[in-house]
Amino acid sequence: MGEISDTLRNPLSMFDVKGKTAVVTGASGAFGRGVSIALGALGANVVMASGTREDLDEAVADVKDVGGNAIPVYRRPDTLEDAEAMLKAALDEFGGADLLAIGSGYNKAGFIHELDYETWQAVMDANVRGNWFMAKALGTYWIENEVKGKMVMMSSVRGRHGNISGYTGYCTSKGATDSLTRVLATEWSKYGITVNAIAPTVFRSKLTAWMYDEEDELGQATRARSLSRIPLGRLAEVEDLMGMALYLLSPASDFCTGQVMYVDGGFTAG
Ligand SMILES: NC(=O)c1ccc[n+]([C@@H]2O[C@H](COP(=O)([O-])OP(=O)(O)OC[C@H]3O[C@@H](n4cnc5c(N)ncnc54)[C@H](OP(=O)(O)O)[C@@H]3O)[C@@H](O)[C@H]2O)c1
Repeated sequence: MGEISDTLRNPLSMFDVKGKTAVVTGASGAFGRGVSIALGALGANVVMASGTREDLDEAVADVKDVGGNAIPVYRRPDTLEDAEAMLKAALDEFGGADLLAIGSGYNKAGFIHELDYETWQAVMDANVRGNWFMAKALGTYWIENEVKGKMVMMSSVRGRHGNISGYTGYCTSKGATDSLTRVLATEWSKYGITVNAIAPTVFRSKLTAWMYDEEDELGQATRARSLSRIPLGRLAEVEDLMGMALYLLSPASDFCTGQVMYVDGGFTAG
């Protein structure tokens, strides 16, 4: 019999994030709030950023409700200055920043022959430019301070698949997110920093609540169309993403980088 390592004896230790500090954007939203609560419940400190003060305050209160440490930053990652302000809040309040989860994002559908450039650009800015600013701010800090940071971005199955619903902005932005994931992962591999993305199909959030509404006819039709493509036969809840999020933000994923992880009920398998 070989020697049994401490990790194998206590495998849950691989998921230990206690005492780590996470910066979460879009923290008033479904994914951002969910990952903040889960991290807070596991003993991580959380800097929660988003633009809507009231919603963010409620999400911060939720983290505190599970015994977590959290502070709000009322900003979206619209500029490098915004991203640096989030980092500064983490350093001032908690003395470091180890983890970055990007939950900010936006979609506005429209067919290209009717869509104006500004709408396309707004989707690209929310889903790509903000990620780049966050990566630049946190990545610079990680490299200069020899922190083996972990970054998780939110992609979508739409980074790989087109959509008939007028998604030139959204699909392009998520394809760019996948590419940013791979290039940052390779660029930062020599520092031991990992970068991955989570790609869901549909999970319940403000953006998608109408698809879960039994009374809404368009919601019913859209849900039926989605379900016909999802082998596991249901739409997701934010909890369905948390196992993957915690894996990617904890030491369990130290040898996993540059990956787009499909948590999609089998959508991309079929
Ligand atoms: N829900 C799904 O089915 C689904 C599926 C695949 C991928 N995703 C992706 O998952 C991520 C999180 O989505 P979610 O469903 O949790 O959405 P959500 O509940 O609407 O949350 C999105 C967050 O982004 C912020 N936000 C909104 N517009 C923004 C903009 N223009 N620039 C920067 N931030 C903005 C919002 O906060 P403030 O308004 O307070 O700033 C909000 O906290 C997004 O990248 C989304 O594309 C979602």
